[in-house]
Amino acid sequence: MKRTALRSALSLGGGIVLAAAMSSGLAATANIVWAASPIANVGLRAKLVQMFEATYPNIHVTMVSQPTNTNTNRATLVTEISSGSSTPDVFMGDVIWPAQFGADGLALPLNKYLPSSFFSRFAPGLVAGATYKGSVYGAPFFMDAGFLYYRKDLLAKAHLPVPKTWAQLKSEAQTLQSKHMVKYGFVWEGNSYEGLTCNWMEYLTDAGGSVFNKSGSKATMDSPAAVKALTFMKSLITSGVSPAAEVTFQEPQAMSTFQAGNSAFLRNWDYAYAASQSKGSKVIGKVGVAPLPTFNAANYPGYSNIGGWNLYINPHSKNIKADLTFISWMTGVKAQTTMATFASEIPSNYAVQKNAKVRALNPVLRIVSTVRLIARPSQTPQYPKISAAIYHNINAALAGSMSVSQALKTANSQIQQALNPNAL
Ligand code: GLC
Repeated sequence: MKRTALRSALSLGGGIVLAAAMSSGLAATANIVWAASPIANVGLRAKLVQMFEATYPNIHVTMVSQPTNTNTNRATLVTEISSGSSTPDVFMGDVIWPAQFGADGLALPLNKYLPSSFFSRFAPGLVAGATYKGSVYGAPFFMDAGFLYYRKDLLAKAHLPVPKTWAQLKSEAQTLQSKHMVKYGFVWEGNSYEGLTCNWMEYLTDAGGSVFNKSGSKATMDSPAAVKALTFMKSLITSGVSPAAEVTFQEPQAMSTFQAGNSAFLRNWDYAYAASQSKGSKVIGKVGVAPLPTFNAANYPGYSNIGGWNLYINPHSKNIKADLTFISWMTGVKAQTTMATFASEIPSNYAVQKNAKVRALNPVLRIVSTVRLIARPSQTPQYPKISAAIYHNINAALAGSMSVSQALKTANSQIQQALNPNAL
């Protein structure tokens, strides 16, 4: 069947076609390529593929591993898909991509192929986050949030509580360091890339600031709140609480420092709990998870940035039925339970998220309802430029090559430019 014909058959038949195809074990034999970045280094991707293939023996999945850096990952996919390549068929893509991928025709509008009942399996808000101009471009795969991971053993030994304010975190870290109980106090993501924008959103929002105003007409990052946020982040490095190499850290470096037992605190996503308890870790049984601290104790907890990943379909894929079957299974109860229990992910499937047995096995999921969430301003195709303006300049200030005020002024004017791309 020609793709246009298949497309209209699927969209006319909606879920009926997919449901029939799926209950028949999907008659068509297909080989699909799934591009996916590492999830928690616990063998999860291969496990999911294996389970899927056992359920759908006619569909063979080749998993292609993507870079852990979301920006590099996006760049390789944009190049591939915009060249018209029919692979990968399905890709794991960041929750901040729907606007760009939707506007540029790099992802299939899933709501044209799947019945609206399909989308009711997801936790509230996730489908809206994957929607751009009325079309749903991604099937939510898992939700990420920023958390504070701490060394239970060190805090107990030094009789220190889990910190609720940033100042408290810093002083507890210094206490532990001065007693030579641990090398570093706190590791996070400070490199010049998307992860720094996520960390920045947490401090900035907690300090009362924002990136631009509600109508999206004016950049607002040159503010006293932003000065407060950036001055504190920089002080983590200048005080030695965070290593000087912090400005080169992405998730894997922060994770491996913490896993090696070299930091009292870690800011990272859901997966970090599972990773900290995986083979080879030096902190097995010693890790606790809490919401992020705040500047002002009365406001506890602080803000956690919303991250996460969706499953998108390449519009040039020649296996759309199989692709739909794959994303439907990956967002179903079995796959989502596996993800939540093996990799401490927050499942996108609402029933799994609420399941008491799953929660009992996932300490991150147990506290997610207590965190205060803040999204990145990614509902515009200009978002990559806005984020780059944030992370380049914030990183320059952290590295000391720009002053705090210079970095914020520069970021602000670059954000303003991105908001008004046609202005002179
Ligand atoms: C995590 C988040 C993603 C974010 C990225 C930044 O993978 O899920 O949304 O963009 O980290 O490094």
